[in-house]
Amino acid sequence: MAAQPEPTAESLDAYWMPFTANRQFKGKPRMLSRASGMYYETPEGRRVLDGTAGLWCVNAGHGRKEITRAVAEQLEVMDYAPPFQMGHPAAFELANAIVRIAPKGLEHVFFTNSGSESVDTALKIALAYHRVKGDAARVRLLGRERGYHGVGFGGISVGGMVANRKAWPTAMIPGVDHLAHTHDIKRNAFTRGLPTHGVELADDLERLVALHDASTIAAVIVEPIAGSTGVVLPPQGYLKRLREICDKYGILLIFDEVITGFGRTGAAFAAQEFGVTPDMITCAKGLTNGCVPMGAVLASKKIYDAFMQGPPNAIELFHGYTYSAHPIACAAGLATLDIYQREGLLARAAQTGPVFEKALHELRGLPHVIDIRNYGLVGAVELQPIAGTPGARAFSVFLKCFERGLLIRTTGDTIALSPALIIEPKHIEELFGVLSQALRDSA
Ligand SMILES: Cc1ncc(COP(=O)(O)O)c(C=O)c1O
Repeated sequence: MAAQPEPTAESLDAYWMPFTANRQFKGKPRMLSRASGMYYETPEGRRVLDGTAGLWCVNAGHGRKEITRAVAEQLEVMDYAPPFQMGHPAAFELANAIVRIAPKGLEHVFFTNSGSESVDTALKIALAYHRVKGDAARVRLLGRERGYHGVGFGGISVGGMVANRKAWPTAMIPGVDHLAHTHDIKRNAFTRGLPTHGVELADDLERLVALHDASTIAAVIVEPIAGSTGVVLPPQGYLKRLREICDKYGILLIFDEVITGFGRTGAAFAAQEFGVTPDMITCAKGLTNGCVPMGAVLASKKIYDAFMQGPPNAIELFHGYTYSAHPIACAAGLATLDIYQREGLLARAAQTGPVFEKALHELRGLPHVIDIRNYGLVGAVELQPIAGTPGARAFSVFLKCFERGLLIRTTGDTIALSPALIIEPKHIEELFGVLSQALRDSA
């Protein structure tokens, strides 16, 4: 490929970058221009090990030719088909393929284009479900502090990250409340796998029931493992107890598996890994290996059947997107799931996890490291913030890593790692070699 011209301040101006310090970035851009397997390449030809599977999405590694071919073929055959009152074969095939790997009982799939849309879709389904069941007083949605559920108004309302909420205080959907988060360094620092302490935090749901009454609560949404808020793990037994309390009061349980779905924890979904089946799962990212935007909501038979009442010629749910089940996304999704199955990637994190865990925990003792957390192929290193400038310490490590050929992700002062499931021991060695040096140099 011909060398690309150096970006100028002018050429960078038009693009308003998401979740990015635009002026800082445009002053010293960090560009990626190619990707293959475990690596990105910069326009100058520098190789960068991808420690984050893009943004938790390229689970089968970059540049998978099977997906490229499937997308190209679908574009040749049929570029687009309206999803309202019309169908196309790949949409039904993909829904069936997802149900085959989903937790038992989640038998229906509603397609969206992103994690945020999946979340808002699931929240809307939850509210409408109680309404069709004649329980229209159940209008409250519960999220959790430090939760991230995308950026739609529904998602930021149930979400619990202050920076994502504070600019829109009056735009939140009404009736929302939040469970306490489960992050507890004091008791759980440097735990390998799920934290031992904190199952009782699930009882916070009992507090909210006592406060609002169960008859007003439609659903609870949580991430089985919270990623964007700095990798917060569920204490042992916590999710099971949440499920029990939801069952006790007729509250729907939604797992937001946008990052944990498609093999990240060692099973297809974290619900299976942790042995807890929610009423709905929201997913996106790994569904198409990050190649084409697509999300999905998996719903239980109980939920779907509740809507399939009334006159058969009536639309049951007034919701959907122009690009729901887009043929290109379906083609990418089918090819992706095929790769996951053929290469055993959905279980790979359980095999590679121990090697990853060992290397990750060897960072203990390096300057400013106050906690290390991991599960499957998710890892986090939490650093002591610099007083007065939260996030600055981790960001400087991020910059050092990028200069030395490693892409990591930071959120606050936590470094989050989520490599592609194809990662091999040699990549793990390279990843932690660069990261440990960057941590030492940031001291
Ligand atoms: C748990 C969770 N939910 C929702 C989202 C939003 O997904 P998207 O950025 O595709 O809208 C994310 C994104 O990282 C996520 O981690």
